[in-house]
Amino acid sequence: MSEYILTESQDGVSIIRFNREDKKNALTLAMYDALTAALEEAARDPKVRVVLFTGSETCFTSGNDLVDFVNNPPTGEDSPVFRFLQALISFPKPVITAVCGAAVGIGTTMLLHSDINFAGDNAKFKLPFANLGLCPEAGSSLLMPLMMGHHRASELLLLGKTFDAQTAKEVGFLNGIHAPQEVFSVALETAKQLTAQPAAALRLTKSLLKQHQQDLLQQVLRTEATHFIERLASPEAAEAFSAFAEKRKPDFSSFD
Ligand code: COA
Repeated sequence: MSEYILTESQDGVSIIRFNREDKKNALTLAMYDALTAALEEAARDPKVRVVLFTGSETCFTSGNDLVDFVNNPPTGEDSPVFRFLQALISFPKPVITAVCGAAVGIGTTMLLHSDINFAGDNAKFKLPFANLGLCPEAGSSLLMPLMMGHHRASELLLLGKTFDAQTAKEVGFLNGIHAPQEVFSVALETAKQLTAQPAAALRLTKSLLKQHQQDLLQQVLRTEATHFIERLASPEAAEAFSAFAEKRKPDFSSFD
């Protein structure tokens, strides 16, 4: 387990918390491994009925650690980020997510695979894959257009601008928006309501809701991952990562 991923069980709810506040909860390889292990344990443990992901009242996660993208980039399906995504996508029990503050990259796309999502009115979402010289991941190139239509998905993925909780709710990422100090308790209350529901019926309902797109989603995940790995080695990504490290704006003008 990583000190940056905290887990605790409360009345049948497994709470998985990002806890690397000084780096805005950026996700390292060790954190992805810890997240995968926590999901595998929650899937195995019959006492766990629901998983609840959260960060703090000021930050959910700034997405993949950009230093890791340079030093330890994913190389294939076995890489920690892809193993985590598969564990989340195939997780059989309900998943609830409570988001406050920054939810960048996978911090937004993981919401596509969570079943019920709440956010604080301070939440700030962003999908900066193109901005970083990368491409969509986590099945977002399939699921976002399905959820919100081509034009809104294009706007969010091509421009990669920050969007607020109201917009995130309008396009379908969120079930509800609350004050930051209330989001976690609303999510936990909902999770506890689910623990009182019949567990097998919930698992079946979740799997029926997702079954129609499973094969296509797996195909899209593989295609996205292949491109994503290639893009990480591109000159555009190198410029974006250097700019982040040097705290300056990237300059893509010399690339075709
Ligand atoms: N990877 C590595 N370090 C990160 C990080 C990330 N994804 N996000 C933030 N950090 C680090 C910053 O480098 C900074 O470190 P420092 O104190 O050693 O300089 C620290 O966390 C605080 O971040 P800062 O940018 O000062 O906070 P902010 O409140 O001004 O902005 C964000 C928060 C999330 C908007 C901003 O940090 C950001 O855009 N991060 C990059 C997000 C990103 O591109 N993720 C990849 C998605 S694929």
